[in-house]
Amino acid sequence: MTETTTRKPIRKAVFPVAGLGTRFLPATKAIPKEMLPIIDRPLIQYAVDEAREAGIEELIFITGRGKTAIVEHFDQAYELEATMGGRGKSLDVLEPTRIQPGNLVTVRQQVPLGLGHAIWCARAIVGNEPFAIFLPDELMVGNPGCMKQMVEAYNEVGGNLISVLEVPEDEVSSYGVIQPGKRGFGPGGALTEVLGLVEKPKREDAPSNLIISGRYILQPEVMRTLESQGKGAGGEIQLTDAMARMIGQQPFHAVTFAGRRFDCGSKTGFVEATLALALEREDMADEVRAMAKRLLGV
Ligand code: G1P
Repeated sequence: MTETTTRKPIRKAVFPVAGLGTRFLPATKAIPKEMLPIIDRPLIQYAVDEAREAGIEELIFITGRGKTAIVEHFDQAYELEATMGGRGKSLDVLEPTRIQPGNLVTVRQQVPLGLGHAIWCARAIVGNEPFAIFLPDELMVGNPGCMKQMVEAYNEVGGNLISVLEVPEDEVSSYGVIQPGKRGFGPGGALTEVLGLVEKPKREDAPSNLIISGRYILQPEVMRTLESQGKGAGGEIQLTDAMARMIGQQPFHAVTFAGRRFDCGSKTGFVEATLALALEREDMADEVRAMAKRLLGV
């Protein structure tokens, strides 16, 4: 692979949002889990903001039945805007939801065959260029954001990158886990060489406690690899298994994110994210702190 192909800019991002969100039922019976708000922005908005901060403008949503609200959220709301405008209200609050015409594409994942299959559904739109993937359940808070840090690393090393973080050993079996090689190099010493990847290993089989935390920059060859990818953990077509097969053929690095991560796929993670972000908002921090103290009796 030549330098020019490894450093093509990252212009496209894939957001797999077809999941049923069963962990949040009944809240997610009629609305997608990605539309559940952390304070006043739906979860998907945080991922889209992170993508745009990293210079990515073309958004590809892998959706399913019942997910139309996500597309509505990023559409122009004529009645709302006309009414607000007529009342002299500022429309600035809607700014993050504005996507240039043509920059949002949806693809349906017709059957829930796994994350690897969801990503493969985007192959025609991704085409022959590197792309990013965001799992919106993972809320990454940092300055710069996680994807921006990854793009900086990509500009140095090219190839494929995944974000990683350390978790307690008894949690590794819920995630994709890396086998690390050389560590602590590249921008901010954040890079680790990836020698192997396993999806949801048993605790005793895990090669480390460094887990894949829901952000990826991948070369388009992963689509070809996914084509012949058999079922893996949980009987699903796993992205991790396809990436593992690419190690050795292309550069593969992990980026340790300098920032905080909230697992909004779990209820406690969701509450934690809500509280943490509320405590940082100028318009509500004091009130929320006082409320939290009152509730805790401290
Ligand atoms: C997916 C990936 C896994 C990754 C995790 C991060 O798993 O397959 O490698 O560590 O997201 O949240 P899922 O949560 O879909 O089971």
